[in-house]
Amino acid sequence: MVTKLLFVCLGNICRSPSAENIMNHLIQQRGLTDRVQCDSAGTSSYHIGSPPDRRMTAAARQYGIHLQGRARQFEAVDFTAFDWILAMDRDNYRDILALDQRGQHHAKVKLMCDFCRHHADQEVPDPYYGGPEGFDYVVNLLLDACEGLLEFVLEQSPASSS
Ligand code: 4NP
Repeated sequence: MVTKLLFVCLGNICRSPSAENIMNHLIQQRGLTDRVQCDSAGTSSYHIGSPPDRRMTAAARQYGIHLQGRARQFEAVDFTAFDWILAMDRDNYRDILALDQRGQHHAKVKLMCDFCRHHADQEVPDPYYGGPEGFDYVVNLLLDACEGLLEFVLEQSPASSS
């Protein structure tokens, strides 16, 4: 069975495309491409169609991770298309749940930092208006969270023995 993950931030040009591409990097390294699929989206419409922010792309490149994709907006159909929806911060979390009016998908929406094993952060900080160190920090934090999330996903959905 394939587990589908959707990473969500505000603009879908910094944090969530980083999470998507970092997770894809881990999945490829471990030969798990048939087990886990990733996508990302933004709660806002600000940057629809844009590639990842060049400052974010430069930071990820330092870790050997190539950022690809184009920004899109989160929409209600994503609740049924994905198994887990990972919000980068509490505002994103609240804005996602606001679209789940009957509360039926609440359990699949999680905060990304809940999966960190080495960082104490509760949110992935928005690097957009800050300096380059903020982008570097986001990559580090997301590497930690993605490792923990991948372990969680594999525990939830073990490989079939057939
Ligand atoms: P992201 O970062 O949510 O991590 O993609 C941002 C991108 C754009 C804006 C804010 C945050 N903005 O205000 O345009």
